[in-house]
Amino acid sequence: MNLLSSGICFYLSVVICCLASSVDASWWYMGTLGTQVMCDNVPGLVNKQRQLCRQHPKIMQAIGAGIQDWIGECQHQFRSHRWNCNTMARDHTVFGRLLLRSSREAAFVYAISSAGVVHTLTRACSQGEIESCSCDPEKKGTSRDAKGAFAWGGCSDNVDYAVTFAQAFVDAKEKKERDARALMNLHNNRAGRKAVKRFMTLECKCHGVSGSCTVRTCWRALAEFRHTGDYLRRRYDGAAQVVMNQYGTGFTRAFRTFKKPTKNDLVYFENSPDYCIRDQESGSVGTGGRVCNRTSRGADSCEVMCCGRGYDTSRVSRTTKCECRFHWCCSVRCRDCAETVDVHTCKAQETT
Ligand SMILES: *[C@@H]1O[C@H](CO)[C@@H](O)[C@H](O)[C@H]1NC(C)=O
Repeated sequence: MNLLSSGICFYLSVVICCLASSVDASWWYMGTLGTQVMCDNVPGLVNKQRQLCRQHPKIMQAIGAGIQDWIGECQHQFRSHRWNCNTMARDHTVFGRLLLRSSREAAFVYAISSAGVVHTLTRACSQGEIESCSCDPEKKGTSRDAKGAFAWGGCSDNVDYAVTFAQAFVDAKEKKERDARALMNLHNNRAGRKAVKRFMTLECKCHGVSGSCTVRTCWRALAEFRHTGDYLRRRYDGAAQVVMNQYGTGFTRAFRTFKKPTKNDLVYFENSPDYCIRDQESGSVGTGGRVCNRTSRGADSCEVMCCGRGYDTSRVSRTTKCECRFHWCCSVRCRDCAETVDVHTCKAQETT
């Protein structure tokens, strides 16, 4: 009897553990495993993802290495906000429980993560790191733009390959689940992939007598990821709060019902917590200890950032480069100057 019940207990705990990890964990965790991605050791990959992982180890290496880039971009975009895209060390969910909520922030993270995969993979293809892709094979021969005819040359970034792969890999999990949250993630994943394509530019080099530009060779190039980050950040500000339509196949706006969200809009279901206090339940880490700006009137001001709890001020000395002079030719020499600055950090909430 005892043996049986402990057996059931063990079985139940296995089921609970694995259900929990399949809900919370995701491919985002690959970034913390470094370059040696082991497909079987990433919790939370669904079968399709594991399969793609085993078939394309080089691509996985690129995606894994790129994760810190899009997380860095996310943190840059939200550096002066209460929620600052912070990650949890050694946590399979990477962002903690916070993104279980179908919030505007979750919408942003899904969008920028799938955008990040497209960007990283496109770059890796152009650099010849991946056997199954290379420069865009369609960009050959001649073409025209507003300035006239040009010859395709160099290596045009092959964003379509990356978009197709990112869709297959990143969306695999949501395709399997197919509930309202999965549809939200799919929508935001696609918005992220589309955002990268928006910042393809034509770069050209002039040839001809003394730079006369009678002959041009051009290639399509991906812009810096910052452009995608800035764009998605604006989409975050204008994100649409939605509800499922009556058939469960798409969204309608929760408030202004006359306008359907477009494919470029980020969509979310739930209001965000205020992110002010540390809260196990929601996964919020709070703003205690965050640096705030006493003279700002924006989101990084001490009033807003510290949620009215007040702040501590400490005097910090640091060295900066100063009195820089240009010396002919060509160097700039500076002196090291010491300065003291006041740093303000939010008080943590009262513990009662
Ligand atoms: C604080 O905010 C003010 C006003 O927005 C700005 O001019 C200043 O550079 C900020 N200081 C820091 C340290 O970010």
